Amino acid sequence: MSPRRELISNAEVHDSDSSDLSKRKLSPELQEFEASVESSLRPMSLAEFVGQEDLKGHLQIVLEAARKRGQAADHFLFAGPPGLGKTSLASIVAHEMGTGFRVTSGPALLRGGDLAAILTSLHPGDVLFIDEIHRLSTAVAEILYPAMEDFKLDIVIGEGPTARSIRLDLPEFTLVGATTRTGMITGPLRDRFGFVARLDYYKVEELKAIVERSSRILGVEADEDGAREIASRSRGTPRLANRLLRRVRDYVEVKADGRINRKTACEGLEVFGVDELGLDKVDRAILDTLCRTYSGRPVGLSTLAVTVGEQPETIEDVYEPFLMQRGLLVRTPRGRIPGPLAWRHLGLEVPQGVASLFGD
Ligand SMILES: Nc1ncnc2c1ncn2[C@@H]1O[C@H](COP(=O)(O)OP(=O)(O)O)[C@@H](O)[C@H]1O
Ligand SMILES: [Mg+2]
Repeated sequence: MSPRRELISNAEVHDSDSSDLSKRKLSPELQEFEASVESSLRPMSLAEFVGQEDLKGHLQIVLEAARKRGQAADHFLFAGPPGLGKTSLASIVAHEMGTGFRVTSGPALLRGGDLAAILTSLHPGDVLFIDEIHRLSTAVAEILYPAMEDFKLDIVIGEGPTARSIRLDLPEFTLVGATTRTGMITGPLRDRFGFVARLDYYKVEELKAIVERSSRILGVEADEDGAREIASRSRGTPRLANRLLRRVRDYVEVKADGRINRKTACEGLEVFGVDELGLDKVDRAILDTLCRTYSGRPVGLSTLAVTVGEQPETIEDVYEPFLMQRGLLVRTPRGRIPGPLAWRHLGLEVPQGVASLFGD
């Protein structure tokens, strides 16, 4: 680890996504504590990063080639739902390249000047991570484009007819962008990345490996079945796997002998309201609204959000992707409808029309 990198502490690598499922309901103090535990579990190298094998293979090649040429690596864009490892990968890029790591986010960059200040303070080869890059303003994006393409910064001096623009040279750097919304990345921005990757939900066996790794770091004993039980209820999401592991650890320390096995994991998860599919209270409220309140008729996003007491963006970014992936919720042009599995999960009979619609 380079000395400069050490200065930029890991605690800085937090997740600024306030809509994140795993952080929404916590007080600020607890959020800070959770963030520090989370960074202790964050993989620091490609070797420690579990799963996403194709992506890791590609990254390895791109990074090694850049290292051999002695150049900054190409710009990367990581897309996918919260908690799948975008921020971790960004810091791994810096770590593998042995360079400095700077963190900011789309919403934090209010004006072009904010970005210009960061760009001019970069060192050659540094990794600049912009989280939630889909939320960059146009003014900031206009500064970013030439910086990404030619490592140039255009500044306008003066106003009106006497205004003139000068170009400054920037050090070569690697931009890593992360977004939960691939659809919201405009063509011009997307085209400036040399490498665009979508992170997918993790398989149970991969999440089990993550739970096992984390339990070693946390010093809690978890047997294979216990780790698998937690993994299978983590909605395909490493951050959630780690979070559930910590809740189950609390449970076994208070209510059992401190060891996690299938039985104690199930009991602990039940106490914290996580069901066999890994759905929590809000997920179940969504399904309940769709099946019981609206009897399967299409429901608009804003209506759904008000009914379950969440922000529409939170529903779209955090809850829906997983419910859709599991076939529990379907988006139609007229609104959201429940899939057949949603009815069954709530212990309801699947209505005739629904069953035939889905060829069930
Ligand atoms: N592939 C992985 N292997 C091991 N742990 C992971 C992996 N991906 C994510 N994690 C864990 O999940 C947490 C959240 O990941 P993060 O990179 O912050 O996700 P994102 O930025 O996509 O929301 C990390 O702190 C880390 O502990
Ligand atoms: Mg993140």
